[in-house]
Amino acid sequence: VGGDATRGEDLYRQCSSCHQIGAGAVDRVGPHLNGIFDRAAGQSEGFRYSSGMERAATGGLVWTYESLDAYIEDPRSLVSQTRMSFRGFDDQQDRDDVLAYLRLFSDN
Ligand code: HEM
Repeated sequence: VGGDATRGEDLYRQCSSCHQIGAGAVDRVGPHLNGIFDRAAGQSEGFRYSSGMERAATGGLVWTYESLDAYIEDPRSLVSQTRMSFRGFDDQQDRDDVLAYLRLFSDN
């Protein structure tokens, strides 16, 4: 909703130390983020997720706009014991912009 993907690309530098996205993206510290919208949580083939993320996946967590927004605001409040150590974006505009950027690499 209302995100600026160009600004989001800039903010995404805070993610790119751990996540790749785009052509040829592979799992590194974190899983690749291609097609993340509407992807079920914890499904990047071959990536070893935390038990917290495995639990969330078993519980049916799907990456929608709303769940992605919550996760990048405060990873641990959505997925307790997630291994993603990212302090989160407090600002709604920052989150909207990063999500607009991620959405460029998703069909949905
Ligand atoms: C997982 C996004 C920053 C490390 C994830 C997932 C998403 C995501 C959507 C879930 C993927 C899935 O279920 O397949 C982002 C975004 C970031 C960011 C948008 C920036 C705003 C970071 C940073 C790190 C990191 C900086 C490393 C310090 C991880 C790890 C996982 C993960 C290790 C797996 C979590 C687990 O198994 O509990 N990230 N991330 N992420 N991310 Fe990030």
